[in-house]
Amino acid sequence: MTDYSIPRPVSGDVVELILDDHRLFESLMREMRDSSSDRAGARDAFAAVLVAHGEAEEQQVYPRLRRKDAIDEHEAEHGEEEHAEINQALLELLECKGTDTQKFDDAVEKVNEVLQHHLTEEELTILNPARDEVSEADRQALGSAFLKVRGEHLDAGVTVETVRALVQDAHAEGLLEDEDD
Ligand SMILES: [Fe+2]
Ligand SMILES: [Fe+2]
Repeated sequence: MTDYSIPRPVSGDVVELILDDHRLFESLMREMRDSSSDRAGARDAFAAVLVAHGEAEEQQVYPRLRRKDAIDEHEAEHGEEEHAEINQALLELLECKGTDTQKFDDAVEKVNEVLQHHLTEEELTILNPARDEVSEADRQALGSAFLKVRGEHLDAGVTVETVRALVQDAHAEGLLEDEDD
């Protein structure tokens, strides 16, 4: 994989759209582990789509699934806590100056760990109820809402300052306090 351009679909089933992004995260994480890849290029694409995806889930997907009673408040809040933890790990990754250092490798390993945990849990506890309890028409509508916010964040771009601000907000909201939850 040498092209790190981020796909910009305009419609689809929200479950499939989210899974497509999860696969993209995994392939970009693999690129960041590979010393023969353009690790800095992969990191930029990874940060942009990861933040756009997480914000779109929090602003559109989690609240709408809550309103449809597909997920409960605990699941939505737990998802937000994990996004905060991922953003914290992403911040450390973005703060690495070089990509051929032990610090970079350690930061990649940490992001892999917290993100893989979240993807597994989100697919089991949020996407499965969306599959089972939300109609196809509603999943399409949710897909459009998800893509709209995702696209706005991709247009705005993601810098280390963007991620730092998200981590600060998460601290202020108490999302990063229950490390053992
Ligand atoms: Fe997700
Ligand atoms: Fe998520």
